[in-house]
Amino acid sequence: MPRDIATELIHHAYQPPAGFEAPQPAVHKASTVIFNDVAALRARDWREKTGYTYGLHGTPTTFLLEERIAALEGGRYCALAPSGLAAVALVDQALLSQGDEVLLPDNVYGPSLALARGELARWGIAHRLYDPMDVAGLAAMIGPATRLVWLEAPGSVTMEFPDLAGLAAAARARGVATALDNTWGSGIAFRAFDSGVDIVMQALTKFPSGGGDVLMGSVVTRDAALHERIKLTHMRLGLGVAGNDAELVLRSLATLPLRYAAQDRVGRSLAQWLSTRPEVAQVLHPALEGAPGHVHWRATCTAAAGLFSVMLDARYSRAQVDVFVDALQLFRIGYSWAGPVSLVVPYDLGEMRSVSARERDHLRGHLVRFSIGFEAVADLQADLSQAFQRAFG
Ligand SMILES: Cc1ncc(COP(=O)(O)O)c(C=O)c1O
Repeated sequence: MPRDIATELIHHAYQPPAGFEAPQPAVHKASTVIFNDVAALRARDWREKTGYTYGLHGTPTTFLLEERIAALEGGRYCALAPSGLAAVALVDQALLSQGDEVLLPDNVYGPSLALARGELARWGIAHRLYDPMDVAGLAAMIGPATRLVWLEAPGSVTMEFPDLAGLAAAARARGVATALDNTWGSGIAFRAFDSGVDIVMQALTKFPSGGGDVLMGSVVTRDAALHERIKLTHMRLGLGVAGNDAELVLRSLATLPLRYAAQDRVGRSLAQWLSTRPEVAQVLHPALEGAPGHVHWRATCTAAAGLFSVMLDARYSRAQVDVFVDALQLFRIGYSWAGPVSLVVPYDLGEMRSVSARERDHLRGHLVRFSIGFEAVADLQADLSQAFQRAFG
């Protein structure tokens, strides 16, 4: 019987140095790696994990983290990047060339779109946005220049959960590669490769770190040739990660399933409570009945991240919503998620979504996103209550 990932992350095959049988891995830091003779220098290939060549191309610490992230995602090969966004850029640069087109979901992580509008456009790579809730629509959009389809489940900020397997199958049927930004699922909520995607990227900055103190990204594949392509670009771009950062993520991985479950429990409890509040028009949490894409979440997932948004009623002014957010004391105003401190960000959907998406019922009002930390649920609920009272009376 295959072992649960919670067990696998702790009892992963790790060979400690002889005579020092500690399960905690060592932190190796190096730029230079010494070769004993010229023959060794000439024999070692940086692409092979059989030997070390230069700190940028891997140390025992980063190789171990790569193995564990690949196991977490259910993949075979992993490349680490210095941030989640760098991992997105790595995939784009490895797979796309001048004249190619990439398709992005309308609710894609904002900086991924900024990258497409900026650098990719400058390099002659086109992009178009597709409706992630319309599989047939994506299938119809794929053209002769389309080389890559990005997927996100759920989408950033507005949290619609797509038919992931349907979207991946539509791309595969036309011979187009798919890359999933799996930062929300984090290898815990669902088995990403089971949906038929080719590449699974994750911002390790969020759940795998869990401390709010590391930036890192990963790109996992099952296919050796695809990994080789990614690895070549990774090497040419010089995307190394630091040994101490890798160690922080390795240390946190053992508690990832527990932290994910705890934040899920508190997040669902608060999301449920918020859905009963008169100030809230809609809770955008994929595990809640009636949330956009809930049926797909139910068919795909066994858990949910402690990250969700609410639409505050359109009858309030933006200034009132700002008073609400400013009045929160435990929820601190700031980007990112999955750390110990609960966070809140009000978003102006303005140009963030296509016109047709903005007109959908679930996006009427003012969007506020919450990330659940490790505080007690009763304290978080009391904080929300007092802020509602202060802002809306
Ligand atoms: C869905 C998603 N993908 C990627 C990233 C990028 O991660 P990083 O902050 O490590 O660049 C983020 C960060 O917020 C994110 O939310």
